[in-house]
Amino acid sequence: MRISEETIRRIKDAAIIEEVVGDFVSLKRKGANLWACCPFHHEKTPSFSVSPAKGIYKCFGCGAAGDSVKFIMDIEGLSYPDALRYLANKYNIEIEESYTPNELHEQARSQRESMLVLLNFAKNFFKTQLLASSEGQSIGLSYFKERNIHLSSIETFELGYSLNDWHALEQAALKQQFNPELLEKTGLVVVKQSQDKTQRYDRFRGRVIFPIHDLSGKVIAFGARALKTEDQPKYLNSPEIEGIYLKGETLYGIFQAKKAIRQADHCFLTEGYLDVIAMHQAGIANVVASSGTSLTEEQIRLIKRFTDNVTVLYDGDTAGIKASLRGIDMLLEQGMNVHAVALPEGEDPDSFIRKQGAIAFKNYLQAHTTDFVSFKACILLTEQVRDPLKKAEIVREIIQSVAKIPDAIKRELFIQQCTTALQVREEIIRAEISQMLWKAAQQRKQEQENILTNKAQHQPDKSLPPLPEEPFGEKYDGIPDELVDTTRVFQKSVTHIINRHEQECIRLLLKYGQHYLEDNLKLWQYLLHEIDDIEFHTPLYRRILEMYKDAILQGEEPDVQYFIRYASPEVVAIVANITESKYEASPNWELMHNIYIPKETDKLPIAVYENILRLKKEFIEKLESETFAEIKRAEKHQNDQQVVSLLQAYSQLAKQRVAIAKELGNVVSVRSLL
Ligand code: GTP
Ligand code: MN
Repeated sequence: MRISEETIRRIKDAAIIEEVVGDFVSLKRKGANLWACCPFHHEKTPSFSVSPAKGIYKCFGCGAAGDSVKFIMDIEGLSYPDALRYLANKYNIEIEESYTPNELHEQARSQRESMLVLLNFAKNFFKTQLLASSEGQSIGLSYFKERNIHLSSIETFELGYSLNDWHALEQAALKQQFNPELLEKTGLVVVKQSQDKTQRYDRFRGRVIFPIHDLSGKVIAFGARALKTEDQPKYLNSPEIEGIYLKGETLYGIFQAKKAIRQADHCFLTEGYLDVIAMHQAGIANVVASSGTSLTEEQIRLIKRFTDNVTVLYDGDTAGIKASLRGIDMLLEQGMNVHAVALPEGEDPDSFIRKQGAIAFKNYLQAHTTDFVSFKACILLTEQVRDPLKKAEIVREIIQSVAKIPDAIKRELFIQQCTTALQVREEIIRAEISQMLWKAAQQRKQEQENILTNKAQHQPDKSLPPLPEEPFGEKYDGIPDELVDTTRVFQKSVTHIINRHEQECIRLLLKYGQHYLEDNLKLWQYLLHEIDDIEFHTPLYRRILEMYKDAILQGEEPDVQYFIRYASPEVVAIVANITESKYEASPNWELMHNIYIPKETDKLPIAVYENILRLKKEFIEKLESETFAEIKRAEKHQNDQQVVSLLQAYSQLAKQRVAIAKELGNVVSVRSLL
């Protein structure tokens, strides 16, 4: 079966890059392009851009780039023809192909695709049993009715029923020529050896079935609920399937919710399959479930493709709350804005909605949504607060969460809140946080050193498309040349050790050092004067800065060309890399603050000022952690006098940092008005 040239052209013409990409990540417009956090690598600030005009995307972080077809190939792991089919399907373009199960087998060349076909077959089989078999109707369907699941939800979530029979699915699948080995691999059939006899039987029997979909709506696993309390376990799940279903990377309901999450820019996180469905029925479609496991980083990243705002909904029982506290910390670490709702004890969203209705549920959410500090404080402090030791422990626990917020300005807000919610003096909280940050920084430093010592790890390039096979018409012409980023391998290995603000400082100096900020004041004069007392901690940037100062001392005003001519190869590489970016205002810097800069030279003064503030803030933070370490040392040696003077210095630093953070806030908001 072959896709004609004509069809391929129509598909490519119809595919609108921002729509195709927008199904997977949440794009925000900044100027001519749209931006998002890259779905192909882990990042906290967006460096993934989409150009509607050119019909292409490019990630400045990992170098992934291409057109609509390439995007679908990579994100869905599809072959070229299958990516075309996907797009044809999305845009209702007919491809003259008809599938019989046999043909499907042939097409699904890889085992992975065969398994997906099989899982889809099983889903349809379970669905048919639910709706059309008498057992399905009398047992499965009436169970769903009893739990107030509407027919429309059965459609949306593709619910099903597995007959109370040891071989129903297996036989149906074999009849369609599905491979017995794949039945086993997908976990649909269980194989047991007992006394030199091999037994094979259906895993799911007499249960209602909740298919688990991936982001694009393909069924990758099943959850199956027992109908009688004596049947154990209550939920039986598919085993993990290599390359298809990893429990920790899946969120129940993400396919059905992704559009609503993006629209609302907000996601509810709950625990159970039925909670997701009940909330959909109550008109809240931006909801996913972690399915009873504790939240993982991958799951959070999945949500983060669509929004940064999460509200955690958990049962009011102790186990539920413990789970939510762990989840909250992980969400914070990933830079999410976290709210939480404690449901009445013993209730989950489904039971609440069934008992009190959708309106009461929404009202409850509105009235009981709290930020995480209050949530944690409220839960932990209700227990044994009278014991001061216990209280100290709880306070530390809460502060620990605050320390995990990567954004310093947000962190600052929560510090203020902690002092009121916990009734603890600000200095104590700051001291705690500094210590935690310091520890974390030490750990990062160690990791970076490790990276530096094995920097020769060349990874094979996974993002390049596999060669398409001839019979599918037009050759895949690969990534346009302009998109191939030659600095990519290099960037990958050093990304972690790049200090963005130091980089920005160097970039401004080299590119615009000779620009006049005011009459008689060149950028380099102002910048070098302001950062005179700051020491860069990235060795290469420190070297570049020193070279720059040396040149100035000798009466030169160095620019990019100067460095390219005179510097060592590593420095030349860095200089080329940071000054030759296609997007003049480095995209991260720009995106972080939500603005687009049409011509950078127009805004140099404020850019320089902001850079100076950022460098200073960072430097002060470093001094703070060093001072803190000294305080600890002095305390250990019981040198009281030194402790007192260090504490003074320490609080002075904290004040300075707060002042700078405030000023930065002003600068950023002023800049966004420009
Ligand atoms: P109902 O009791 O039918 O309302 O389901 P529920 O979703 O409220 O169940 P519960 O709160 O007990 O569990 C929440 C989620 O944890 C479920 O939706 C399942 O995803 C998962 N879960 C619960 N029990 C089991 C189990 O026995 N085995 C497995 N694998 N998962 C379970
Ligand atoms: Mn429930």
